[in-house]
Amino acid sequence: MIYSTITGLGFYVPDNIVTNQDLTQFMETSDEWIRERTGIEQRRYFTPGKDTNASMAAAASRMAIERAGLQAADIELIVFATITPDYFFPGSGFLMQRELGLEGIGVIDIRNQCSGFVYALSIADQFIKTGMYKTILVVGSEIQSTWINKSTAGRNVAVIFGDGAGAAVVQATRDPDHRILSTHLHADGRFAEDLYVRDPGSSRPTRSATKEMIDEGGFDVVMNGNAVFKHATVRFSEVIDEALKANGYGPEDIALLVPHQANIRISEYVRQQLKLPPEKVVNNIQRFGNTTAASIPIALTEAWEQGRIHSGDLICLAAFGSGFTWASALLKW
Ligand code: ACO
Repeated sequence: MIYSTITGLGFYVPDNIVTNQDLTQFMETSDEWIRERTGIEQRRYFTPGKDTNASMAAAASRMAIERAGLQAADIELIVFATITPDYFFPGSGFLMQRELGLEGIGVIDIRNQCSGFVYALSIADQFIKTGMYKTILVVGSEIQSTWINKSTAGRNVAVIFGDGAGAAVVQATRDPDHRILSTHLHADGRFAEDLYVRDPGSSRPTRSATKEMIDEGGFDVVMNGNAVFKHATVRFSEVIDEALKANGYGPEDIALLVPHQANIRISEYVRQQLKLPPEKVVNNIQRFGNTTAASIPIALTEAWEQGRIHSGDLICLAAFGSGFTWASALLKW
């Protein structure tokens, strides 16, 4: 049997730290409100002229490739998740491929919002298990600080999001004891408009309507916070449970849960449902905010750097996001 396993991890966050206090320059908010509702203390915003979505992704990828003991030329396929590409099209995966000097290899650009990285990992896992590729780069990267509405009108959403990138090298293995055990993917489009950005949507009138799109708030994130909270808490627990049951484990077997960093209150709720002690759940939203498709690979890389992941550990990745989408990956490290 061919399995897949993560052999290298990396992340990159911009230098520019934006504290909750800094946000009060743009909008009516407070450090206390943001910390209490989301757990976030600061986030990173990219530096124009220095960082791009693709350049941050390339920096994270170079780190992951080096830690895997490989050269960029060893990568055979890129699976790239983002909802904030540098261009409307083509996606940033192609720009990152160019930056890494990997012209010619396949690039799969996916969206899938906050579940993007787990979906991307699942795609890599399937391609490796079929024997089509042996070494795949899986990336999540976001620049969200440019499109969030930083006025008081957009404050319920703007305070949550940050910029950053994370990457993993996924390779073929025949070792059944150290591998991706399973991935589970779900979506329910009935809730698409409970967390979405409408424009620049193709089903809008014409190019000349762009100003109206902006004035109408078409470029702003629309979030039904209560619906997201309600569904996220249920789906996170469900999809983790599904992963554990599929492999004959229970919550007590988890060595580390790496949830999408949506909101500390959601992670805390899920932790309590699973009866996990705090040290078994990774939370870095306090320092980076919610970085959508980048949040899981950043959190996983940090946990690995901090020595929180050991050989043989059962690691669970879990995500919930716009779509609605939700997904999990269970790994034996
Ligand atoms: N600072 C100060 N006041 C604010 C802010 C802010 N940044 N944002 C909203 N408010 C005010 C509102 O104006 C409102 O005031 P009012 O009662 O006088 O009208 C009050 O706070 C409550 O506003 P809501 O929009 O209802 O905010 P809520 O209390 O629901 O908190 C939050 C917003 C934290 C996002 C909440 O809805 C939540 O936890 N949702 C879960 C979803 C989530 O975390 N999404 C994250 C990203 S999605 C993902 O990753 C899957």
